[in-house]
Amino acid sequence: MRRPVSVAPPKGKLGVLTPGMGAVSTTFMAGVELVRRGHAVPVGSLTQLGTIRLGKRTDGRTPKIKDFVQLAKLDDIVFGGWDVFSDDAYQAAAKAGVLEAKDLVKAEKFLKGIKPMKAVFDQNYVKNLHGTHVKKGKTKFDLAEQLREDIRTFKKKNKLDRLVMVWCGSTEVFLKAEEVHKSLASFEKGMRANHPAIAPSMLYAYAAISEGVPFANGAPNLTVDIPALEEYAKAKNVAIGGKDFKTGQTLLKTVLAPAFKARMLGLNGWFSTNILGNRDGEVLDDPGSFKTKEESKLGALEYILQPALYPDLYGKIHHKVRINYYPPRGDNKEGWDNIDIFGWLGYPMQIKVDFLCRDSILAAPIVLDLALFFDLAQRAGMRGIQEWLSFYFKSPMCAKELYPEHDLFIQLMKLKNTLRWMMGEDLITHLGNEYYD
Ligand SMILES: NC(=O)c1ccc[n+]([C@@H]2O[C@H](COP(=O)([O-])OP(=O)(O)OC[C@H]3O[C@@H](n4cnc5c(N)ncnc54)[C@H](O)[C@@H]3O)[C@@H](O)[C@H]2O)c1
Repeated sequence: MRRPVSVAPPKGKLGVLTPGMGAVSTTFMAGVELVRRGHAVPVGSLTQLGTIRLGKRTDGRTPKIKDFVQLAKLDDIVFGGWDVFSDDAYQAAAKAGVLEAKDLVKAEKFLKGIKPMKAVFDQNYVKNLHGTHVKKGKTKFDLAEQLREDIRTFKKKNKLDRLVMVWCGSTEVFLKAEEVHKSLASFEKGMRANHPAIAPSMLYAYAAISEGVPFANGAPNLTVDIPALEEYAKAKNVAIGGKDFKTGQTLLKTVLAPAFKARMLGLNGWFSTNILGNRDGEVLDDPGSFKTKEESKLGALEYILQPALYPDLYGKIHHKVRINYYPPRGDNKEGWDNIDIFGWLGYPMQIKVDFLCRDSILAAPIVLDLALFFDLAQRAGMRGIQEWLSFYFKSPMCAKELYPEHDLFIQLMKLKNTLRWMMGEDLITHLGNEYYD
């Protein structure tokens, strides 16, 4: 990838489209509105609160990221989305039960104005959802054309300069990349023939790329992670990325596992279990959708610990992930981890983590950051997979000859160095020997 010659400034309005207007999406919309109106601080958002060091440690140059790279302003964001239910964003947020009435009421009028467009949906891909607010079309290609039309209309009606799309829809059943996903030509042929391996989320991604709109995938579905859409994104100069927001349990896993490896501590097993009671939990109660999530959650340890390089330490790990749908908990998930490690002379030790988290409270700032960074990448002319945004994903997409980088702090360094690189600043290597000359 070549360094951008220039980055177009973020003038005009930015449309943020979310397929899926459920718990995560509406918490994101409500939160941005409360921040805009001065009712809240955007806690959890690197783009809003984070800083970046430039030059030497003695230079004292540490601007806010949003000032350094000129991100779109929150005031310039316009929200839109699709859902299989016709509830407006206020009703959907109230049903999701993430935000308390005292907070929701402050954004009530605003959220009531955000009404979902009819979704492209097929229950074969999300078994536990029965939606009615759904488009009709003879072929998958027709449905993608309807999504394209929605995007163009939304842009025109709201007088937008640019758009980004972040998938906040339910997790679809597990699909493996196959022949039909291999090239754009076979994919387009497959859409016309209603090929069963083309899921609705892929049609949103196809429509976004067709309209020059960057696409980020917040769920673990394959979606844009197929050669056909990667090829298409490159041809259309569109930024893409995914998959699966890294929010709670996996966030901690990708902090703890690198610590064990850094100190050459061994690992025998890692048992992760979750209870949650939101609609996401209900969808994940179906074995097909759970398998998609399970694959996504299992990947990180293997890549971080590199058992082939360290067989004595990580050659025999028992890694299990469970998700249990338990309605009383709603969005307030509990994630337990039992970690069996060993140290000097093989003596065993245990670590227990009990994270009483709030799923959508952790995810909302990630949606915001992804929308703003994908818009930045697009303005900088960076096309195809944006690996520098791996920081936000449980299963980061990367070039096919690479393995994904999961270590949170390597991901953060990569992200910040990419920003420095884009703006022509020196990269920071943390060598620091010049201070001791
Ligand atoms: N911490 C987190 O909350 C977190 C972390 C990682 C990933 N995710 C993923 O983000 C996604 C959203 O999570 P959520 O808690 O908001 O779930 P949710 O069930 O509250 O919302 C998802 C919405 O998507 C809609 N939907 C499903 N298929 C659709 C389609 N084809 N087109 C349009 N809308 C569709 C559903 O009707 C629902 O309203 C899920 O896939 C979840 O696995 C969430």
